Amino acid sequence: MVRRTRRSNKMEVNLVIKEEGFIKTPHQTQRNMLLNQALKEFADDLDTLDQLAKEFVPGTIGHSLEDRSQKVLDDEEIMEDWQIPIMLAMAEEVCSKSGDILEIGFGRGVASTMIQDQNVKSHTIIECNDSIIDRFHVWKNSFPEKDIEIVKGLWQDTIDDLGLFDGVFFHTYPLDGEEYMEYIANSVTFAEHFFPTAASHLRPGGAFTYLTNEIDSLSRGHQRLILKYFSSFSLQVVKFDIPEDVKDTWWIGSMVVIKAIK
Ligand SMILES: C[S@@+](CC[C@H](N)C(=O)[O-])C[C@H]1O[C@@H](n2cnc3c(N)ncnc32)[C@H](O)[C@@H]1O
Repeated sequence: MVRRTRRSNKMEVNLVIKEEGFIKTPHQTQRNMLLNQALKEFADDLDTLDQLAKEFVPGTIGHSLEDRSQKVLDDEEIMEDWQIPIMLAMAEEVCSKSGDILEIGFGRGVASTMIQDQNVKSHTIIECNDSIIDRFHVWKNSFPEKDIEIVKGLWQDTIDDLGLFDGVFFHTYPLDGEEYMEYIANSVTFAEHFFPTAASHLRPGGAFTYLTNEIDSLSRGHQRLILKYFSSFSLQVVKFDIPEDVKDTWWIGSMVVIKAIK
């Protein structure tokens, strides 16, 4: 059994390898290098989290898991205002080459307006909630000359009929407890379940943007997952004011936004 320990003043990380063939390299020094690197990275991450935890606000823990696919929601239930700077960062990234943009989830239309501000060629929006589709029709009146199309339904049921795009903007939320468990609790990041679909609907060089559950950088697992479907990516750390009583499952005033390139 191989054991490794990494200590700092406040904590200790212990690694126990039970199987001899685990991370087997031709030479022992090579294995030591990999293990030390992994352990150091984990310990450094914990020290960084120790600092970041001091910036957390209490919020209102206990997100509702009730079915909201057709629920009539008010603005703040759809998306709290603190997310507006994130929408702007994502809209600017997804429209960096203009062209044909696909947006998943209309919500309050905040991001849709920002996408329109970028003068895109066409703008297709998939939205499943009928009351939000009503909001879309009111919003659309402000853009009479623009090529904007709404596709009604879940993206899972409708996206196959759509073609290729230059940019895909993804911002949905879990519609019920089942989606919460599948897409949040068991995923690297919420958008993970959409990665293959995003990649298959982008033209070469097209951009996919989404928000993450990352505070100040990107985990290795998350990077590996992006690179499985996309050729490259860039990240932006967006700063904002987070309310003390935030209701969404986020408690600190920064978040990483990703732009992944097909
Ligand atoms: C957080 S809101 C989007 C907010 C929007 N970005 C804005 O700036 O106002 C999420 C939206 O995604 C929609 N949605 C959630 N899951 C969906 C799915 N599977 N297919 C289509 N729309 C979905 C919801 O009905 C909701 O309108």
